[in-house]
Amino acid sequence: MPAPVTVSKEQLDKQFTYIDAVAGLIRDKRPRAYTHTFGCQQNEADTERIRGMLHEMGYEMTNNADEADFILFNTCAVREHAEDRAFGNIGALSHLKKRRPEVIIALCGCMAQQEKNVEKIKKSYPQVSLLFGTHALWRFPSLLYRVLTEKKRVFDIGGEDDIAEGLPVLRARGAKAWLSIMYGCNNFCTYCIVPYVRGRERSRRPEEIERELRELIAAGYKEITLLGQNVNSYGKDLGLNIDFAGLLRRLNAVPGDFWLRFMTSHPKDASPRLFDAMADCEKVAKQLHLPFQSGSNEILRRMNRHYTAESYRTLIQDARQKMPDITLSSDIIVGFPGETEQDFAQTLALVDEVRFDLLFTFLYSPRSGTPAASYEDPVTPEEKQRRFERLLRVQDEIVAERQAAYQGKRLRLLVDGMAKGPDYPYTARTEGNLLVCVCGDGIQTGEFIQAEIEKTTLRCLFARKL
Ligand code: 5AD
Ligand code: SF4
Repeated sequence: MPAPVTVSKEQLDKQFTYIDAVAGLIRDKRPRAYTHTFGCQQNEADTERIRGMLHEMGYEMTNNADEADFILFNTCAVREHAEDRAFGNIGALSHLKKRRPEVIIALCGCMAQQEKNVEKIKKSYPQVSLLFGTHALWRFPSLLYRVLTEKKRVFDIGGEDDIAEGLPVLRARGAKAWLSIMYGCNNFCTYCIVPYVRGRERSRRPEEIERELRELIAAGYKEITLLGQNVNSYGKDLGLNIDFAGLLRRLNAVPGDFWLRFMTSHPKDASPRLFDAMADCEKVAKQLHLPFQSGSNEILRRMNRHYTAESYRTLIQDARQKMPDITLSSDIIVGFPGETEQDFAQTLALVDEVRFDLLFTFLYSPRSGTPAASYEDPVTPEEKQRRFERLLRVQDEIVAERQAAYQGKRLRLLVDGMAKGPDYPYTARTEGNLLVCVCGDGIQTGEFIQAEIEKTTLRCLFARKL
């Protein structure tokens, strides 16, 4: 496989000159920028890069779209619902654009990488002045410059599967940070649009990842989540003799008191070698998100997932044997085309057996251009909905039981924000990433504390600082 293309220093330097040029154009206006992110953590990480560029240009960030001079939607194409919401949000801005025609409305991300959406925006959403795809993100300064100077709409969905290092980034303050280790996906699960909109897998070089991790630790972040569509294939394209387990070991050696998390893992590539590394590395949180999608081997085959329910069970056993307290979560798709009652029963059985701490459950959403979108699908939406609700009920019982088992336990927590209720005013996370509301003296956001669990509900543990 050819090594990933890194955007050259000259190309990036050029973007920095555009950042300065935009700054020159808007300097006296004290402009404000508003961003809204749909979808996954990868999108959130991308938005932080765009906010970094906007910040360098002189934009101040605002949480209020009404007062913004630049509005950006970073979009998701994984399910129809996310697309509908993005179109709804953009549609609702037509009044704002009429009232303040100078406002720039931009759209980027996975939806912007698809021809059909681009046509729709061109035709029916004239309020959008700038659209760019996932591959053009690093060119944002030059694109915005063109919108500001040429006074016409700019569309850029071109570009290659490349990696741009050294872009500015404006991260959310707090305890947690994202760290992308790779981009794209090679798997082509038959339901999934991601490989079409994010391109092929490409890994960042380990020294770049380590450099960024060191910066994050120095800046005070305590929980760093390594991001990739399929982190278990990290390094395959680099030819450097490093895989994901090796990367974890290297990052674990970085000095500091922090937790490393990662997502998402694919069961076809997760291995005993990975679990050995997780077990050995004290900074790697004992938490695993391992989507299995369906408990039926026939559905897994038609999803192009390359593992079986049995091999998945074996993986979970191995992980639990090496890390007895590990927290497990998964993604499941209900109602994949042709899913029979028996197939679904196998999904329920796997859920019942593994006893996940957290599940993300989705109704199948056909994505045009993917193979599954043309599969026959005789099951009615009503039946799919019933299955979906059955799954939720089974999982709620499991979660109640798993949460209750934390009663009275003493745990290390990372305080990460403010809670809504007055009795337990802070939010925190366990090493397993379970949500905790916590009370006690001298609690500070961004700090690790020891606490004892006082009560539990389905969605939250409640703890007192020790
Ligand atoms: N319909 C429903 N869910 C989907 N996912 C991906 N594509 C689709 C789709 N077309 C789910 C998978 C994946 C998660 C991020 O989104 O479960 O793991
Ligand atoms: Fe989509 Fe499958 Fe790639 Fe995940 S591994 S992004 S589900 S194609």
